[in-house]
Parts: sequence; structure tokens; C-alpha cells
Amino acid sequence: MLQVRVTQKILEAEGICSFELCAADGGELPRFEAGSHIDVHIGSGVTRQYSLCNHPEELHRYLIGVLDDPASRGGSRAMHEQVVQGQLLTISEPRNLFALDHNGARHLLFAGGIGITPILAMAYELSQRGADFELHYCFRSSERAAFIQQLRRSPFAASVYLHDDSGAPEQKLDAASLLANPAPGVHLYVCGPGGFMGHILDAADHAGWAQAQVHREFFAAHPVEHGADTPFEVELASTGQVFHIPADRHVFEVLEEAGIKIETSCEQGVCGSCITRVLQGVPDHRDLYMTPAEHACNDQFTPCCSRAKSPRLVLDL
Ligand code: FES
Repeated sequence: MLQVRVTQKILEAEGICSFELCAADGGELPRFEAGSHIDVHIGSGVTRQYSLCNHPEELHRYLIGVLDDPASRGGSRAMHEQVVQGQLLTISEPRNLFALDHNGARHLLFAGGIGITPILAMAYELSQRGADFELHYCFRSSERAAFIQQLRRSPFAASVYLHDDSGAPEQKLDAASLLANPAPGVHLYVCGPGGFMGHILDAADHAGWAQAQVHREFFAAHPVEHGADTPFEVELASTGQVFHIPADRHVFEVLEEAGIKIETSCEQGVCGSCITRVLQGVPDHRDLYMTPAEHACNDQFTPCCSRAKSPRLVLDL
């Protein structure tokens, strides 16, 4: 855990604030890679993940962008309403679940709305390395788009394409054309709301992109209908202990109550922190983190949200 001070809070666009965080002791912060996020402890046991969007070379600060999303679970609202300049916050060290492929010959970055945050850090890193890349940034209107001026003034401004949904048809994103030729060595990175992600990933799928060339980070899970959930059992391979998972509870909650701690972060199947190996049984995958091919293997699952199709799962715990 790190103690940081909010040294600047800026309204970047309608409903989006940036927070500049510096080490509370005035020293350097741990180095991070583009695509990394931090957990921010907002208070009352609420923790949220935010991507770092500044240049990864900067060690004196972290910058995050936070959307006050009316559909959020309250963390982002608290960041906007309760966190003020000068305040101390506890954060985790950066973790990267959305890394650049350093062997890539060319990189296509697609950001939708607040999804610009990790993509911005990626662009800084790629630009510094002299890599070949394009950044496509889609937003509903310029008033609701953060960091546009920063992108226009950046050293990579010539590689940035802005797509305003409320603007002229000729500047709107044409994902099918941009993704039509999935050449070897080209990597695609996508971050944004679910609808945007689905649109880009479907276009990539349709054009035949290999899964290893496609990198994505979801911000939030789609709402899931829980009405048909049924109970099941999990068995711990190391001890043989069996736990009953009621229809309205998650595996990680039941295990945590029994003193078996599984590392979790998002608790909604988007970050991958809790992935656990499955030795027997068939999981009912509810996460957005793993790929369809990984789901089909059925040898790991996310106990924060996923369930079971078989009566019992034997876990490598
Ligand atoms: Fe994030 Fe399970 S805690 S996927």
C-alpha cells in the first residue's frame, strides 16, 4: 500500500475529473508500465481501480481520470464529491493486466470515452520508443471527452484520430475498414464501455484477428441476470474441504468467511485478479476478462463472479 496526496484535481470534461497523486513523503513512486492500474481506497471499505494515464517515465506522480458514471456502484461518485485537493489517499502499487506487446511491429489503439486513460499512457510509451502506432479516440461529444487538448499538443498528435459521435459522418470511426487486414505483428488494444468494446471486438473477430493480437480492458461488467442461479459445491484440492455455495452468494465470499483468502480487486469479473485453477468440474464463466478460448478450456475461473455448471468444482487451493 502507498500513501499519496492529491496534488491536483481538475475537471477535464463534463463528468470527468483527473486526479494527480504524489507520494505523501515527497519521494518517487514505484515505476509503472503503460496499461497499469492502481486500486484506490476511497473509504468505508470501498476500493476502485483506475488506470494510470500519464507518461510511464514520470516517477514523481500518477495521474488518473475518473468518470462520474450514474450507473457506477458509488466509488466514482465518491471520488468526484468527497476527494479534494490536498487529501491523503491509500492506493496499491500499480499492476498491469493490459500490457503492450513489446514484440509488436505496429499497434492500433482504440479508446471509447473514459477508456482513453490506459490508452494515453500506451501512446506516450509507444511514442517514446519510436514505435509505429495509431490512436483512435471515440467520444459522444467534445464536451464529454477528456484529454483532447493534451492529445493535440502531444508529440504523437499526428498519430491521433478523433471520432466525435455527434460530429460529421466522414470523421466517425469505421472499425470494419480499419481492422480489415490483420497483418502478422500488428496488435490491437481496446478500452472503453461495453458497447464500444463489443463493436470493436466483433469487427476484429469478423476480420479474422488472432486472439493473441487483440488486447482489451473492460471497465465494468455487463449487468447479469441472477434469477436462475443455483447452489453448487466447491472442494479444495489441498484439504478435501467442501463448501456449499448458495444461489445468492459468490465463491470468494464463502471461502473468505472460512478464512481462505482469494485475492480480489474488481469483484465483477473484469480484472483477472482472482483467477483460480479448476481441477475438476465445469465452471459457468461470468467474467469478461478471459477470452472465449480460455473459457472453453474450463481449467480456470473467476471465483468473484463465476459459478458452476456441474454440481461441484474442485479448485487448486
Ligand atoms: Fe476481478 Fe475477479 S476480482 S476478476
